[in-house]
Amino acid sequence: KQTNNMAKRTNAIDLSDSFEKIPVKIFPSSKDGSVFVARQIADFIRFKQQKKEKCVLGLATGSTPKSLYAELVRLHREEKLSFKNVITFNLDEYYPIHNNALQSYNRFMKTQLFDHVDIDPKNIHIPNGEIEKDDIKEHCRQYEKKIKDAGGIDLQILGIGNNGHIGFNEPGSGIYSKTRLITLDNSTRIANAYEFANISQVPRLAITMGISTILQSKKIILMAWGSAKAPVIKKAVEDDDTEQVPASLLQNHDDVTFVVDKSAAAELTRNKSPWLTGD
Ligand code: F6R
Repeated sequence: KQTNNMAKRTNAIDLSDSFEKIPVKIFPSSKDGSVFVARQIADFIRFKQQKKEKCVLGLATGSTPKSLYAELVRLHREEKLSFKNVITFNLDEYYPIHNNALQSYNRFMKTQLFDHVDIDPKNIHIPNGEIEKDDIKEHCRQYEKKIKDAGGIDLQILGIGNNGHIGFNEPGSGIYSKTRLITLDNSTRIANAYEFANISQVPRLAITMGISTILQSKKIILMAWGSAKAPVIKKAVEDDDTEQVPASLLQNHDDVTFVVDKSAAAELTRNKSPWLTGD
């Protein structure tokens, strides 16, 4: 009885919602979070297969989704998950870069996912870092058109930069921005330098979907692992939305979930100052 009363009292003063403007699911580890997201994707692909419909996924690169792609490959191999009805649009690519360069996101997607599943290559879309500068505007316009022609993105997967970027929409990116050429933040070039021989080799430019392109997706899942991401997760979820923290603009979408591990959730008020949220 005492426990019941406690539970009632705890519920009565659960204030975590008043701090968090975006739903956050916290998992013990990045592996657990990735398995959860892979399951969501697999269920959605199968649901669309039953209806004989295409399933349009927006995909991210970087270290965060590697365990997600490993789990999707496992589901394909061991649980017969087919990608035949899947159409993909990647968020971004460095510019300029050769598609087969070690650091290119075109190559990343092949080695992490596409080479290991039964997706039709003509259903794969990734910004092209090889095109001529004069053709970039038209390439970006076509990219937006292809997303529209596919019926829009059903489910967009995101990571987050330490500076709050989503895709390569660096701080200052407008809520109405579309696919375009951008200048990478120095902090992003430093964060990604480990993929290159040295910092001077990191491209200064990139092609990225815009904030409005991302916000037009029907459903969005942002993943983040590790304590380095904890401060920006707190800002994006609890502080006011601002173009200075592009991920906070996701507060303007009505079906977005953050999937994080315990370390990335450490700065949220419910963990940092639990007495404030009544826990
Ligand atoms: C990559 C992308 C970026 C990354 C972000 C985090 O396609 O869109 O926004 O998600 O830079 O990178 P990692 O996962 O390496 O920490």
